[in-house]
Amino acid sequence: MYKQLQQRGAERPPVNISTLASMKSKGQKIACMTCYDASFAVLVDEAGVDLVLVGDSLGMVIQGYDTTVPVTVDDIIYHSRAVARALVRPLLVADMPFMSYSTPEQALNNAVRLMQEGGAQMVKLEGGAGQVEVVKYLASHDIPICAHLGLKPQSVHKIGGFRVQGRDGDTASAMRKDAKMLQDAGADIVLLECIPSDLGSLIAKDLHVPVIGIGAGPDVDGQILVLYDILDITSGRKPRFVKNFMLEGGSPLGAIEAFCLEVKDGTYPGPEHGFS
Ligand code: KIV
Repeated sequence: MYKQLQQRGAERPPVNISTLASMKSKGQKIACMTCYDASFAVLVDEAGVDLVLVGDSLGMVIQGYDTTVPVTVDDIIYHSRAVARALVRPLLVADMPFMSYSTPEQALNNAVRLMQEGGAQMVKLEGGAGQVEVVKYLASHDIPICAHLGLKPQSVHKIGGFRVQGRDGDTASAMRKDAKMLQDAGADIVLLECIPSDLGSLIAKDLHVPVIGIGAGPDVDGQILVLYDILDITSGRKPRFVKNFMLEGGSPLGAIEAFCLEVKDGTYPGPEHGFS
C-alpha cells in the first residue's frame, strides 16, 4: 500500500518538510501561495507553487470581514478540504484561527481536526515566546508546525492596526529570540510578515528551518502572497509588498506562474516591496 501511495504523483513528487529543508540548504527559493478552493488549487499546483496555505485571510478576501478575527476552525476546515481534494504536489498548510490554540490541549484538538477533517499536512499559528509551550506540545504529538511572527493579524486589535513590526532594536532582537525559541520548541517553518528586510535576512540566517516571508525582504528562504492580491482582485489600499502579477501573466494561471518564476529567480520581491 505504501508503494502505491509513493507512486502517486511520482513524476512530481509531493513536497514535504524534508523537501523544504533541502531547498533551504541548496539556496533554492520556496514559492508559497494562499488558496481557498479547489479550482484555484488546480492552477496553483500546475503553476509550480511548493507550499499552499489555507490562510485565515479568507475571512477578509472570501468572507468580507475587516479582520481575520471572526474566522472559525470550521471555516478553515471547509476551505482546506476543498483545496486538499485538488492538490497533488504542494505541501498543504492550514491556519489555526484566532483563539483556537489558547491552551496546548485546545491547540492539539483543533490541529487534529485541521489535519483529519481538512486534509492539512501542517498547521500555522501566530505567536512568539507565549506560544512556545503550545508548539512544544504539538511537536511532541508529531504535528508539523509553521510559526508566524512579525505582524500577527489576529492581534490587530491589540497592536492597533496593521503595521510594520520589529523596526526598533529591542523589538527586532526580541523577534530574533522568539524565532529561535519557536524553532527549538519544534516549529518546522517560520513565517515572517511585514518586518524590515534586514531583520528578515538575519532571522533566515539564524534558523536552520526554512523562513518564508511576506513583506520580509528578499533574503529569506521563500515568499508567500495572498492569491487574490497577485490576481489584483482585492479592493482598497494594497500593502507595499503586494505585486499585481496579472500584468505579466495575463491570466490567473500565467500570473501564478510569473510569481513562482520571480520568486525562484529572485526578481520578486524587489527593493520597492520591502521595508527598512
Ligand atoms: O492568513 C494568511 O493568508 C496568512 C498569509 C498572509 C501569510 O497568514
